[in-house]
Amino acid sequence: ATNRTFTMLKPDAVEKGHIGAILEKISASGFKIVAMKLTQMTTKDAQTFYAIHNERPFFADLVEYMTRGPIVAAVLEKDNAVEDFRTLIGATNPADAADGTIRKLFAVSISENAVHGSDSDENAVIESAFHFSGREMF
Ligand code: CMP
Repeated sequence: ATNRTFTMLKPDAVEKGHIGAILEKISASGFKIVAMKLTQMTTKDAQTFYAIHNERPFFADLVEYMTRGPIVAAVLEKDNAVEDFRTLIGATNPADAADGTIRKLFAVSISENAVHGSDSDENAVIESAFHFSGREMF
């Protein structure tokens, strides 16, 4: 699993029509898409997916945001996928994100930050399985 990560293009990115531009950047950076779909998380889905944050002050807003419209969920393959993808997306807060990163280019705020990237190989497997069955991953 060390060569795969999980991503979501979040509702703000989809609303603004950035799906194509973000996928282009992901492909150009050497990631292969091995699973992908347009889907919408339910409140229960978002509460479960982000359970680690359920004590944080922004939790309710995070659930509201992530459920307000469709997302693109995808599994990406590349050597060193988790770390390299986090470098490609940039810091959580777009104000701190490096030039050329996806969040620098497409995110508006720390809460509406355009993309998700798994933070560990273990979470990449858990998050991929949350959104995709075995036969949807290639
Ligand atoms: P991400 O790091 O992918 O997962 C947690 C999400 O919570 C984060 O992206 C943001 O979308 C959201 N969030 C909202 N406010 C904050 C905050 N103050 N710090 C970190 N994450 C936040």
